[in-house]
Amino acid sequence: MCGIIGIASNKSVSSNIIQSLKKLEYRGYDSAGIATIVNGNIDEKKCSGRVDNLEKILFKNPTKGVSGIGHVRWATHGIPNTLNAHPHSSEEVSVVHNGIIENSNQLKQDLEKKGYKFKSQTDTEVITFLLTDFLKNLDLVDAINKTLDKLHGSFALGILFKKHKDIVAGARRGSPLAVGYGPKENYLGSDSYALKSMTNKITYLDDGDICLLTNNRIEFYNSKNKKINKEILTLSNDKHTAEKGDYKDFMSKEINEQNITVKTCIKEYIDQIRKGINIYNFPINPKEIQKIILIGCGTAFHSCLTAKYWLEELTSISTEIDIASEFRYRKIKFNKKYLYIFVSQSGETADTFAALDLCKKNNVKTCSIVNVVESSIARNSDFVLPIHAGPEIGVASTKAFIGQMLVLYILAIKLSEVRGEISKSDYEKNIFDLKKLPDLIKETLDQQDKIQIIAKDFLNAKGAMFLGRGLSFPIALEGALKLKELSYLHAEGYPAGEMKHGPLALIEEGLPVVILAPKDRYFEKTISNMQEVIARGGKVILITNENNKIISENVRFTFEIPAANNNLAPFLMTIPLQLLAYHVASLKNCDIDKPRNLAKSVTVE
Ligand code: M6R
Repeated sequence: MCGIIGIASNKSVSSNIIQSLKKLEYRGYDSAGIATIVNGNIDEKKCSGRVDNLEKILFKNPTKGVSGIGHVRWATHGIPNTLNAHPHSSEEVSVVHNGIIENSNQLKQDLEKKGYKFKSQTDTEVITFLLTDFLKNLDLVDAINKTLDKLHGSFALGILFKKHKDIVAGARRGSPLAVGYGPKENYLGSDSYALKSMTNKITYLDDGDICLLTNNRIEFYNSKNKKINKEILTLSNDKHTAEKGDYKDFMSKEINEQNITVKTCIKEYIDQIRKGINIYNFPINPKEIQKIILIGCGTAFHSCLTAKYWLEELTSISTEIDIASEFRYRKIKFNKKYLYIFVSQSGETADTFAALDLCKKNNVKTCSIVNVVESSIARNSDFVLPIHAGPEIGVASTKAFIGQMLVLYILAIKLSEVRGEISKSDYEKNIFDLKKLPDLIKETLDQQDKIQIIAKDFLNAKGAMFLGRGLSFPIALEGALKLKELSYLHAEGYPAGEMKHGPLALIEEGLPVVILAPKDRYFEKTISNMQEVIARGGKVILITNENNKIISENVRFTFEIPAANNNLAPFLMTIPLQLLAYHVASLKNCDIDKPRNLAKSVTVE
């Protein structure tokens, strides 16, 4: 998704803006641009494609301005080309924008009547001309506020002014925006990650806030043009670096470090001395929680689904799951005895944030499970459980998915203990087994060569299916999502028991079907479903922890995961599915870390 950088300095800013834009590349984008003020005029440079292209343009034609804004764009209004790339400038101002202006068509018509000539197909240009118009009679803050009043939708803005060469302004409603404090310059960023290499002192703008930055001053204003004070936060140090190291891409690094991220997370939550789980201060007395509602999008939603099985198995709390983009628009019956849990790697997903906001407005208690602890979702929840996975850069979520499941599983065990619903010995046994998970993951990762061979079978397939029951069902959904997202191959994840109700019609000679069948209470039933697939010509890849030659007959490949506590099977089955998607995509020469059309942080709905 789009990303914003702004720097107010007393020396040329273009190369730092480029470096910071590179930090935002992980979000997924299709064009890039920069603007500075040079000799009293706005100097705008932009291009389609990667930040590298922009860097080449700047290499040939450097820009010397001491304050500037930069942007990576993920197209919403208008195709990804140079003209639609941000910034969008008039004679007076230059604007970069994240988000969507829902009433841009109407505003455009009004501005055209006033004589403004639009160059792009974007919704952003209306902001440029509205500001230009208000600046004729108003000061900066008033003109920004009057412009914001006209806009419907969600946005974060970075603004430069021809007549104020040392000022960078920012404003937000709905989309996140952070301000960073440097020793001799100050920064604006759509997330703190992009600012981390320059500063660890950050302030987050709230909806309706405006900021004005110079190299040695930062001022904040509210929607009534009044100066306000804001808290300065110190960002946490990441224990894991966001560098690729010797890996070909971030995704392979992130898959291969999962034994370590899981170990780190377990250490954070398991008290080594008391051998208990370190989760206290629940926002509702755990004994009084009547229901848990888990909400997320995409992969995060799949982790919510695994948690439903664990919570139902380990506690008496009834559990519902919801997709954030659906939850936010339904007529929900909120209840103060329910705990609403939001799961999000980035903590910035627009739909998940809106669902959280709705809960807050209805005065119910919220908990978030996030990777980015400084994120909007974390900052706005009553209770935060970090997954401690370190920065995840690959657009396809891997270690964060495992981390989300891990924290949800730990939470389920903790709730069963504090509610008195598990015996002491079972509680301790679950923790004892959980501590083996990093080694079990390592053992599974060590077999990755086998997956490379299996991946070849998917190359000429016209689609693939992933089937599982119980805890394996969400993993089937996740396996299918990973394959679609990375290799652009159509894939369906299904509960194996649903096959006869329609999807069995899809099975034909040679169709790859991944069957997830750990030796749990569903095992025999899943194996029967597998036989039905084989009988119709499906090419089965069986993932199991049951070593049984008879069962493996007529199966194209069997991938054995280590035997473990049944509750840990979802973690172990996920690994071969991540690797499968990775290798199919590699064989098809797809862009592994930045799949087409997708973004890491989905900050528009
Ligand atoms: O940052 P979030 O966890 O809230 O993101 C939610 C989804 O956009 C994300 O999981 C998406 O489905 C991934 N690209 C899947 O790999």
